[in-house]
Parts: sequence; C-alpha cells; structure tokens
Amino acid sequence: MSEMAGEHGLTPAEISAHSARALDALRSFRRLSEDGQQGFPHLPFQAETAKDILKFSYSVRGTYDAVCLVGIGGSALGAWAIDNALRGPHPVQPQFSKKNPRLVVLDNVDPAFVEGALDSMDPRRTLVLVVAKSGATAETVATFLIVREWLTRKIGRKAAQRIIAVTSAGKGDLAVLADKEGYRTFEIPGNVGGRFSVLSPVGMVPAALIGIDIRKIFKGAMMMTHLAWQEDVEENIALRSALLQYLIWNLKSKPIQVAFPYSNRLWGTAFWFRQLWAESLGKAFLRTGEAIHAGQTPVAALGTTDQHSQVQLYVEGPNDKVHTFWAVEKHRDAGRIPKTRVGLEAFDYLPGQSLAKLIDAERRSTAAALTAAGRPNCTFTLEKVDEEHIGAFFQLLEFQTAFTGELLNINAFDQPGVELGKKFTFGLMGRKGFEQFRADFDKYEKKRSKL
Ligand code: PA5
Repeated sequence: MSEMAGEHGLTPAEISAHSARALDALRSFRRLSEDGQQGFPHLPFQAETAKDILKFSYSVRGTYDAVCLVGIGGSALGAWAIDNALRGPHPVQPQFSKKNPRLVVLDNVDPAFVEGALDSMDPRRTLVLVVAKSGATAETVATFLIVREWLTRKIGRKAAQRIIAVTSAGKGDLAVLADKEGYRTFEIPGNVGGRFSVLSPVGMVPAALIGIDIRKIFKGAMMMTHLAWQEDVEENIALRSALLQYLIWNLKSKPIQVAFPYSNRLWGTAFWFRQLWAESLGKAFLRTGEAIHAGQTPVAALGTTDQHSQVQLYVEGPNDKVHTFWAVEKHRDAGRIPKTRVGLEAFDYLPGQSLAKLIDAERRSTAAALTAAGRPNCTFTLEKVDEEHIGAFFQLLEFQTAFTGELLNINAFDQPGVELGKKFTFGLMGRKGFEQFRADFDKYEKKRSKL
C-alpha cells in the first residue's frame, strides 16, 4: 500500500476504483467455466477420476522403486512441484525404495541428462509415465522412444505393461500408439490446458504413483475453488490478489514479478508458477484484436539463499518489480539451534533459537528493507506445506492467473507464440508436412550467417 511503499504502492481509492472490474473479471471467467470452455475449476471435484487413479496406483504398488516421467512444460512441472513440496526438495528426500519410489522427471532433451537418468534406474523396477496433451511434442516423443527401447531391451514384451500414457482421449499419435501397444492410459480433459492441468491425471497420476494421497490435494483445492467463486473482493483471496497484482503491474509500471518462496519445499512450485504466469499472460493481442504485447516476467527467487544473490538488485536496481513472498508458518522441523555457547559475539545470540525463527525473521526483514526502498511487496502465507495446502495454493494461483487474464482482456489459455519455433524444429528434424518451414528456416539461416 502507498502508506508503506509511497508512490509505488496502491491507495485504497485505486483499489476501490477497480473493484467492480474485478467482479466483472470473475463473472466473465465463470461463464467460460460454466459453459465448459475452461475446465480447471472442475478438476478437484472429479471423484471418479481420483478413484480410478488410486485404484490403479494400489494395483501396481510395490513393483517399482522409480517412476520415470517423460513430459515437458505443463506436462511435467506440476508433478515436480508436488514431489518437492510433499516429499522434500531434491536431493534431500528420504531413502528411495519400493515403498517410497523415486520420481525422475525427464523434461529436457539434453542427451547427457537423459542418459545419466537412465543409467541411474533399473528398468526392471521402473514404471514409465509418458505425459503429453498433444501427443506429439518433439521432446517428449523423442525421449519416450529412447526410454521405451531401454525398457524393452531389458524386459521384452512386458514393457507395455510398465508404460502408462496420460494424453488427450482419442486425439494425437500418443493415444494411437498407447492403444496399439496396450498401455494403461489416463485422459486429459480437452478443456484443461497444459499449465492448468496439475489437478488432472497429468499431476495426479505421478503423485499417486509416488504414494501421495491425492484426495487430500483435492480437498484443499475444492475449498479454494469455493472461495475463488465468491463475489467479494475482500474475502476472495484469488480475486483480490489478481486485482492487486494487476494494479501494481499496470498502474505502477512493474513488468517483473519475483515469486519469492522462503521454503525449499516450494521451490518446484515457483517454477510451476513461472510457466503459468508467463505463458498465460504474455500475449500479443487483446481479445478485441488490438495489439497489446502484455506480460509480466516472472522470476523465481529462493529465500534466504537469493538474499545473497538477488536482493541487492531488488532493493537498489530499477524499481520495476513486485515481490511476492511465499511464507510457511509451520515448518516440519523447527531446526533447533543447540543451546551451547561458544564465547563469540557472532555466534552467541543464536543458541536456543531455531532455523524456523531465523528464516521467518529474514523474510520479514527483507520485506521491510524492500518497503523502505519503496519496492512493493506482498506475502502469501501457507500454514504448512502439506497436501491440502498445496492443492489450495495451486488452485489459488490458477484462479489468480485466469482472473488477471480477464482483467487484461486477453486469452490466458492459448500459447500461439511458441508455435513458429516448434514448426521450425519439425522442419529441421524432417517431419512430413513441415518442408516449407525448413525452407523458411534455411533462408533465415543464410541471411544470419552472412551477417
Ligand atoms: O501450457 C501448455 O499448454 C504447454 O506448456 C504444454 O504443457 C507443453 O507445451 C507440453 O505440451 P504437451 O503436453 O502437448 O506435450
């Protein structure tokens, strides 16, 4: 607020002047949800899907000690975020076993990464999960062909029983292959886009396979969904945060948002959010067709680590950022600092206190320092990082993104800007039907190399 951050903060008058627009944004998104165009608000209520996923996960439990997920973008980040949040950040998760299987997410085609990952797993004790809504993403398809071959070389025809495909029903070549080879499949609803799909089988199948109780994730997400439909800007946390973020960004010229979790468990969620905010709100055109080139660049920073890397820039550099802290009230362990004193001034104020108290003090101090420098910031506080809170937080951030898209009057659910690069890649890799893109690319390359 302006009382705290001066001219870079919001005034109550600015907020109330736009509150009616926030309610309009909620209503127009509700129409998209009610008429079935956008499906993410309905996902936590799909009890049958949850039942199917759990039934399947119980039927295979104990037969694997690794789940190898092949997917990218919205088809990978949610599972990674859940794993980090609920089982701990890599590499400090508890010992892996058949009771506590490892999740290996192959979301890049760096050959050394893929090869190293396969070397670290035993194909006889691995379940392979291939996730692609389009069923045709080059990175996913290429990696899957390698993983499928790796599995088949060791276990032969039984490989098909160890592969699960999550994809659109009856659409795309992955669905065709799954059908032909007899993989167990789970469907991604047509009205749920990749980055909004964490609560669909995209995130819930890997979560269940690593032993997470997905019903609790749904419980938190349901609670948040009910809240997110309230027509009350004070009570509706998703609508309120959409409005505040929209106003700070647009009235106070803040083209960058720093998502700043003070918890390693929320680090994966920060990367998930980065995609959600960037791909949804970075758009060339308004719905009316006028050019806008909207977008707020999301940056992920980790507290306290990045206080020693980024905060100098945030406090003294250009005042072009809004900082959103993600705080945790109750950490799983307090991290007690031993009571013994060592007789040195830089050490002896700490004994008997805790790391939980320190991380909280550091976050509040950083917020105060940013505020003193007129840098706007706000805080989401999760009581704890458990299934219910993480389900609620995903849904909060998805609603916040959808409402902000409506406030901007853009389509937050497509991603036309990534298409041309994909088509050039298909052309370069020799996919049929993409010869013209290969020719256009060659023209570009000729000009580039001359320069
Ligand atoms: O949000 C999106 O739609 C994208 O980021 C996709 O998730 C990503 O491109 C992967 O697509 P697919 O699931 O078809 O492989």
